[in-house]
Amino acid sequence: MAHALQSVEEAADRLRGAGYLASPEIAASAFLADRLEKPILVEGPAGVGKTELGRALAQATGRTLLRLQCYEGLDESKALYEWEYAKQLLYTQLLKDKIAETIAGAGTLSEAAERIAGSEDLFFSERFLLPRPVLAAIRSKDPALLLVDEIDKADPEFEAFLLEVLADSAVTVPELGTVRAVHTPRVVLTSNAARELSDALKRRCLHLYIDFPTAQRELEIVRARVPGVSDQLARKVVAAVQAVRKLDLKKAPSISETLDWVRALTLLNAATLEPQLVADTLSIILKYEADIAKAREHLGYIAGAEYR
Ligand SMILES: Nc1ncnc2c1ncn2[C@@H]1O[C@H](COP(=O)(O)OP(=O)(O)O)[C@@H](O)[C@H]1O
Ligand SMILES: [Mg+2]
Repeated sequence: MAHALQSVEEAADRLRGAGYLASPEIAASAFLADRLEKPILVEGPAGVGKTELGRALAQATGRTLLRLQCYEGLDESKALYEWEYAKQLLYTQLLKDKIAETIAGAGTLSEAAERIAGSEDLFFSERFLLPRPVLAAIRSKDPALLLVDEIDKADPEFEAFLLEVLADSAVTVPELGTVRAVHTPRVVLTSNAARELSDALKRRCLHLYIDFPTAQRELEIVRARVPGVSDQLARKVVAAVQAVRKLDLKKAPSISETLDWVRALTLLNAATLEPQLVADTLSIILKYEADIAKAREHLGYIAGAEYR
């Protein structure tokens, strides 16, 4: 059963129940998108919880999650459905006596082909259809949430196709006809802004920008994701990461890196952060040599940062 969100507070509570700590803006977008039945387009740097929001929102609203990971060259057919080639082949093998009977006595090659063509429908039917996430979301008997992850990685043509599907809540499979959604699926799209998305797509969606979290929210996320972490260490790490983000870096550490750092330091039995320990473990939160070199110049500042 899908659950309709009743208020911004309820959205925040239910997201929390799904393991997601939402900022007030995120909770408001989740509530409005659910009420207005609009897709949410989530943008922001890597690792700030865009994908996770899609997953958590599906859980918070009692919807089946269908996820489409986008990539360059992704096209309609891969997003909609494929024919199960191996199964078709297996059937032709198992049915080869029947097929031989069908074409027995055919005078010419084209006559034999004609007779086989008569059974073509069998091989392009529901039985051999492998629905991909977009079709699966449209056909879903249970209310669904379609997560279109990293839409900016797909080509603009794919975006146009997706817009059409979203507008109609229907897709056409040439061999099977038009499939209409029983329940309009909710949609969450994410983008790392690798390219500018079309105005048409932006117009259709509620827009949500997720930035790096405040220290307070990041601490809550650490507590939720690393149960049992010492409070002192969690505060120290959050303060240190927030300080590192202020350095002029090629790639600032995201929430995933904060969590990795906390887990690593816990394994090392660290109770707090010392400059030497920061130096030894910087590679967990920084992925570029130049960033690590820069952070090394500020070890005292990083280790000394206090949670406020
Ligand atoms: N608000 C949040 N509440 C709980 N965990 C979060 C939150 N934001 C991020 N995370 C954690 O950070 C990790 C990275 O988030 P992810 O959704 O993969 O980032 P993105 O899709 O923006 O690159 C997730 O595995 C999740 O555990
Ligand atoms: Mg992601």
